[in-house]
Amino acid sequence: MLLIKELDKSKVGESISLAGWLRTKRDSKGGFSFLEINDGSSFKGIQVIADQNLDNYDDVKSLHTGASLKLTGKLVESPGKGQSFELQAESILIYGNTDQSYLLQKGRINFETLRESAHLRCRTNSIGAVMRVRNQLSKATHDFFQNRHFLNLHTPIITASDCEGAGQMFQVTTLDMDKPPKNDLNKVDYKKDFFGKKTHLTVSGQLNGETYACGLGRIYTFGPTFRAENSNTSRHLSEFWMVEPEAAFFELEENADLARDYLKYCFKSVLETSADDLEFFDQRIEKGIITKLETLSDAEFTRITYTEAVKLLEKTDKKFEFPVKWGIDLQSEHERYLTEEIFKQPVIVTDYPKDIKAFYMKLNDDEKTVRALDVLCPQIGEIIGGSQREENLDLLLNRMKTLDLNPEDYSWYLDLRRYGSVPHSGFGLGFERLVQFCTGMSNIRDVIPFPRTPKNAKF
Ligand code: 4AD
Ligand code: MG
Repeated sequence: MLLIKELDKSKVGESISLAGWLRTKRDSKGGFSFLEINDGSSFKGIQVIADQNLDNYDDVKSLHTGASLKLTGKLVESPGKGQSFELQAESILIYGNTDQSYLLQKGRINFETLRESAHLRCRTNSIGAVMRVRNQLSKATHDFFQNRHFLNLHTPIITASDCEGAGQMFQVTTLDMDKPPKNDLNKVDYKKDFFGKKTHLTVSGQLNGETYACGLGRIYTFGPTFRAENSNTSRHLSEFWMVEPEAAFFELEENADLARDYLKYCFKSVLETSADDLEFFDQRIEKGIITKLETLSDAEFTRITYTEAVKLLEKTDKKFEFPVKWGIDLQSEHERYLTEEIFKQPVIVTDYPKDIKAFYMKLNDDEKTVRALDVLCPQIGEIIGGSQREENLDLLLNRMKTLDLNPEDYSWYLDLRRYGSVPHSGFGLGFERLVQFCTGMSNIRDVIPFPRTPKNAKF
C-alpha cells in the first residue's frame, strides 16, 4: 500500500493500492463518479475515478464524506487542472461508511467546535496541515541540535523542585489503595503525596538539564511541561512541550546566537519540506506567511537590552494598558509593540531586572540586572526564555535567601557550583508557540493534538 505523499510521475501506468478517507464525491450521469481521497500524508488528496464496472458501484455511490476506503487501480495522467495524476479504480473496499450526522459533510467547521470532536479534528485540512508542520518542526529540532552535537536528554516529569520558583505546579498524588478505584476514577480517593514526598509535574527540565550539561557538555531536552497558571489566553496551555538546550562554557552571547540559529533553521526546514501546507496557511490563515518565513530565515534578529527596550517603549505615543517603567515585567502588548511596530522582526531582549526573573540567572556587575534572554516574535510575543546561569555558589545562595528558597531542597543543584563549577547557559522554547509562528494559527489550542487548558482535559 502506498501513501499519497509517495506518488510521483514515475508511478504513472503502475497498478497501486491506496487507503484513506473520502473528502467529496461527485456522481456523473454517464455511470461514473469522482472521489476525492485524502490519507493525511500530505495536504493534497487524489482524485479517483470509479465506474459501473466495479462490483460494488451502487455501494460506492452511497458513500458519504468521511467514509474509509481501500482503493486499487491504475495511476494515470490526469487531464484535470491542479493535479498531475489520478487513480482509475479497479476495486474499492469499503471499510466504513458515515451518515448524515458526520459533521464534515456540512462544510467548514470553526476551530472551537472542532476542539470538541476528537475524531473529526485531525481529518480537517487545517489541523492536518498544522500537525504535519508540527512534526517537521520536531524533526528539525532534533536535526539542529544533533548536528551541533547536543545530546538529547530525557529529564523527569515528576520532580520535587520548582525550577521557575513561581509556584505554578500540579501536585502528584497516589491513589489510596485501601479504597480500590473500581471503574469510576471520579470516585477514587487520592493520597496527598507521592510515597511520602511532595512532588509535582515539572514546569521545566532546566535544573536537571544543567546537571548533565555540567558533565557532558551540551544537552537538550524536548518534553512535556506543566503549568498550573489560570491563564486563558491564546498563548498559554496547562501542558505544553518545551525544547531546552543547555551548554557548558556558553555565555549569554553564544546562547543568543544558538537561539537565533535554531529558529532560522526551523523556518528554513518548514519552507523546504512543507510547501503545500504553507500555501494553505498563506491563503487561509495568515496572508504573507511564506514571505515572512523566507525573510526571517536570513535575518539577523535585533538584539537590545531590557533597559533599551523600556526607553524605546517610553518614547512612543502609544497608550499601553500597563504603563511602562523600568522594573516592570514586559507585558504581551509591549512585546508585540517592539516586534510588530518598532523592529518588525524577532527581537532578542537581554539583561532584565533581577527582581522579575528566576533565582538561577547570573547577576550582572550592576547588581540590578541578570544575564537573561527572551526572544520575542511578532504576533506571539515571548517564544524563548533563557539565561546564562549563576555559577558562583555564594551569589546563588544569596539570591535564594532573598527569594526565601531553602538551599537544602536544591543541594544536589548547588553541588554543580561546589565542584568544578563552569559558566553555562541555556534557554527554553515553547514548542507550540513556534508552531503558531510557523502556521499563523491564532490560538495555541489548535496547534497541539489534545489541548490542556484550565478546566479542559476532555479526551
Ligand atoms: O520563560 P520560561 O518560563 O522559561 C523556563 O521555563 C526556563 N526554565 C527555560 C530554560 O531556560 N531552560 O518558559 C520558556 C518558554 C516561554 O518562552 C514560552 O515560549 C513557553 O516556554 N511557555 C509556555 N507555552 C505555552 N503555555 C504556557 N503556559 C507557557 N509558559 C511558558
Ligand atoms: Mg519567560
